Amino acid sequence: MPAEPSVDRALRVLVTGGAGFIGSAVCRVLARRPGTEVVVLDDFSTSSYANLHGVPVTVIEGSVLDEALLSQAMAGADAVVHLAAIASVQESLDRPLEVHRVNVTGTLTVLEAARAAGLVHTVIASSSSVYGSGPELPKHEGLRPRTESPYGATKLAAESYALTWQRSYGLPVLAFRFFNVFGPRQNAGAAYPAVVPAFLEQTLGGGAVTIFGTGEQSRDFTYVESVAEVIADAVVRRVAHDEPVDLGFGVRTSLLELVHELETALGRPVDIEFAPARTGDILHSQAEGGRLAELFPGLRPIPLAEGLRATVAWMHEKGER
Ligand SMILES: NC(=O)c1ccc[n+]([C@@H]2O[C@H](COP(=O)([O-])OP(=O)(O)OC[C@H]3O[C@@H](n4cnc5c(N)ncnc54)[C@H](O)[C@@H]3O)[C@@H](O)[C@H]2O)c1
Repeated sequence: MPAEPSVDRALRVLVTGGAGFIGSAVCRVLARRPGTEVVVLDDFSTSSYANLHGVPVTVIEGSVLDEALLSQAMAGADAVVHLAAIASVQESLDRPLEVHRVNVTGTLTVLEAARAAGLVHTVIASSSSVYGSGPELPKHEGLRPRTESPYGATKLAAESYALTWQRSYGLPVLAFRFFNVFGPRQNAGAAYPAVVPAFLEQTLGGGAVTIFGTGEQSRDFTYVESVAEVIADAVVRRVAHDEPVDLGFGVRTSLLELVHELETALGRPVDIEFAPARTGDILHSQAEGGRLAELFPGLRPIPLAEGLRATVAWMHEKGER
């Protein structure tokens, strides 16, 4: 692991996809840290400036596929947090080449810019989707990946490139595999929203929540602020690792249990409508989390119930309902 810089030193961090759901949370946590400058590179294809409202960041609008813009954004950076991607299984099934370009070629372009700028510490977003629906639970980094969607394949390729850039060129890299992140600013308006914002949107709109399949399928839901804290800590301490690191906290919740937690957060019953299971959906997902705990011993993740309460409160505050 590279040496930890002095805490007094100003830190310049480039966050690609920094206007997105996870990216804007990362920017908030980083910008709270004295002496930290945050630069966002985002093409706003699935996000808006509103996500960064009140956050002191410099915004560069454009694509990670634009090499010249990327090297300009990378200039003087101490670290890059690369989150820009098309983060949708369904989009990847519909437009596999385009999703490959953004998720894989985009990552390669970031890695090359980080290398050219003097081996800038690089944190990248992979996904638990690389595990597919193999029967082993909990998931751990020693398992053989078995991707089930083009999206999963792009994330596996991206992390593989990043770790190879570490081994081939000495680029300090940390490749996180995120597990079902949820929280404020998650896009419920997307064509294929993630389960927590979809449920919230449906039930706050007065309807039933739609469960594809039996509802027994389960996920390791991780609250976005906990994820952002881990990423910020990784940047500040320049944490690098030769293998991917699962960023999930080891609590598995079925969709039926999630509905129950939602009922508690809302203080009222929630109706359910069942629909047929979807292609590419994974049955169960849960991180073992040993490597994460080793690298981040101070980690205190926010539990699901608390995260859901905060997300519901944010939706009410947003005044959409
Ligand atoms: N949300 C999750 O549960 C989850 C799980 C696993 C992995 N991830 C990964 O985390 C990262 C962030 O995901 P998110 O949930 O915040 O999604 P998001 O869609 O909110 O964020 C992605 C951001 O990238 C931007 N973007 C897309 N294409 C771009 C391009 N070509 N150039 C520059 N910016 C571009 C979008 O405008 C958006 O702001 C992604 O890499 C995603 O694959 C997310």
